[in-house]
Amino acid sequence: MVPNAKIYVAGHRGMVGSAIIRALKRRGFENIVVRSHAELDLRDQRATDAFFAEERPDYVFLAASKVGGIAANAAAPADFLYDNAMLEMNAIHAAWRNGCRKLLFLGSSCIYPKFAPQPMPESCLLTSALEPTNEGYALAKIAGLKYCAYLNRQHGADYVSVMPTNLYGPNDNYHPEHSHVLPALIRRFHEAKEAKAPFVTCWGDGSPLREFLYVDDLADLCLLVMERYHGDDPINAGSGREITIKALSELVARTVGYEGEIRWDRTRPNGTPRKLLDLSRSIALGWRPKTSLEDGLKLAYRDFLENPMRVER
Ligand SMILES: NC(=O)c1ccc[n+]([C@@H]2O[C@H](COP(=O)([O-])OP(=O)(O)OC[C@H]3O[C@@H](n4cnc5c(N)ncnc54)[C@H](OP(=O)(O)O)[C@@H]3O)[C@@H](O)[C@H]2O)c1
Repeated sequence: MVPNAKIYVAGHRGMVGSAIIRALKRRGFENIVVRSHAELDLRDQRATDAFFAEERPDYVFLAASKVGGIAANAAAPADFLYDNAMLEMNAIHAAWRNGCRKLLFLGSSCIYPKFAPQPMPESCLLTSALEPTNEGYALAKIAGLKYCAYLNRQHGADYVSVMPTNLYGPNDNYHPEHSHVLPALIRRFHEAKEAKAPFVTCWGDGSPLREFLYVDDLADLCLLVMERYHGDDPINAGSGREITIKALSELVARTVGYEGEIRWDRTRPNGTPRKLLDLSRSIALGWRPKTSLEDGLKLAYRDFLENPMRVER
């Protein structure tokens, strides 16, 4: 990307979009175009076409998405499929029609099969059934990455995709029903500390293994992929470090300063036992995640305390 390239970051107020803006600014890129959801609803094809025809960005980071945790996905699969498929198709198509040189599409590791080999390589895409709870969301993300690949194949475009694991960091969503596991734990332990609650009950037995990536490390990878990667297959983004939900809960409690007991409700489901991404491709590009979970959690909790509005998003 040349220094004065015009770059559109879709979803710039969100966790990933705002981290991409920070990374671009650190690298000296200033010609950045943004629109909030209220200013431009990417599900609206006419409005999206008009925006791209007027701005004609050279590069696009597509980090706008309807995002939610398991409960939100399971309750509204039609909304997750419709909203995401519409906004992706409109934005990717309008970008291509209006001369965008390169677009980076953000998906999610939930595109991979429920019983994928561990760690999950990009090549396991579409080899077996998806996890049913977020199938609608995953199908939309698969359609987005395939549309990028098909534009490359059919029209010689250079559109690429990145599939992150669980993310956390500044501007996360701490909504009680719509958040992901890590921000949900931050909020619960913080509220338990404030209320001096003697114990906090978590779902399952704490044994599932999960991976968490600090969002600024993802943003660094996105810039690298934009500059160095040309290909149809997605690029995985993870930390390479697994932690049990039990150890994670203890770490969050320590970070937040909650000293009560953590109890486990074994009548609740555990979810998939293990979810880890194969990072061979992202590491081959020269990327390494820099932020440890301990340091990243301290930064995330500080952001949580300093931005109370995030809690109600
Ligand atoms: N969070 C994670 O753990 C995680 C993990 C894996 C992958 N990802 C992927 O990373 C991407 C970004 O996620 P995130 O966590 O940054 O989400 P987020 O914090 O919820 O931000 C999403 C952004 O999308 C915008 N948006 C939503 N619907 C829109 C629409 N119809 N038109 C225009 N803008 C719209 C929102 O705009 P406003 O702020 O203006 O409302 C918001 O800024 C998504 O593709 C997601 O799949 C996230």
